[in-house]
Amino acid sequence: MATDLHELLRSLRVWDPEVTRLPPFDTEAAPTTPLELFTEWFAAVVAAGQSEPHTMSLATSDEAGLPDVRIVMLHGADEAGWSFASHAGSRKGRHLASRPYAALCFYWPVLGRQVRVRGTVSAAPSADAQGDLHARSTGALAAALTGRQSEVLGSVAELAQASQAAWERAAREPDTSVPSWTLYRLRAEEVEFFQGDEARRHVRLRYRRAEEGWTRELLWP
Ligand SMILES: Cc1cc2nc3c(=O)[nH]c(=O)nc-3n(C[C@H](O)[C@H](O)[C@H](O)COP(=O)(O)O)c2cc1C
Repeated sequence: MATDLHELLRSLRVWDPEVTRLPPFDTEAAPTTPLELFTEWFAAVVAAGQSEPHTMSLATSDEAGLPDVRIVMLHGADEAGWSFASHAGSRKGRHLASRPYAALCFYWPVLGRQVRVRGTVSAAPSADAQGDLHARSTGALAAALTGRQSEVLGSVAELAQASQAAWERAAREPDTSVPSWTLYRLRAEEVEFFQGDEARRHVRLRYRRAEEGWTRELLWP
C-alpha cells in the first residue's frame, strides 16, 4: 500500500517532550554580540546531545535573484565571520560570485532553537582554504579533488572512476592543493536567535550591526 503522506504528517509533532527540552531564554542577560551568544548556544546544544549541530542551510540567490538552498558544514565562527567551504565553480559558488550575499539557518531541535544569520560573503585567501582543507580528513580532500561539483554527471561509473583516482591522489599527496576549493566567510549584518516556547510565546532576539557594535530587538513570534 502506498504511504499516506498526510496521515504520516498528522502523526508527527515538533518538540516532543521525550526528545526536546525548551529552556527559558533571558534576553535581558544576552551578551552584546551575536558571536558570543552563538558560541554559548552552540556549546549548549552540543552538551544537550544535538546530532550534527554544525550542519546548516546555506541560502544564496542567482543572477535573477531567485533563491536556492542546501546544507553545508560550518567550519568556524569568529570575528571574521561564519565560514564554510565549497567549490567556486559549483552552483552556490557561482551564485556567490555574482551576488555575494547569503543567509544561514541552524535548527537544533533538542533545545527548540533556531539561529538565522544574514550578511555579505567573501572568499578567504586561497592559503586559508587550502590550510582548512588539509586539516580535514583524506575523504574531504578526495571529495574536493573529485571536483566538478554541480555539473551534470554522465553515469555513476564515471563518478566511481574519478573518485577512486581522487582517493589515491589524496593518500599519495596529502598536501596537494585544490584551486577551486574556497573558504567563504559570511560577515553578519543580522543574526536572529529563536527559542521555542511550550505556550507558543517563542522568544526571538535579533541583533543588527550598528555603526558601533550591535543593536538588539525582540520580534513577535
Ligand atoms: C550533511 C551535509 C553536509 C554537507 N557539507 C557540504 C560542505 O561543507 N560543502 C559543500 O560544498 N557541500 C556540502 N554538502 C553538499 C551540499 O548540500 C550540496 O549538495 C553541494 O554543495 C552542491 O550544492 P550547489 O549545487 O548548490 O552548489 C553537504 C551535504 C550534506 C547533506
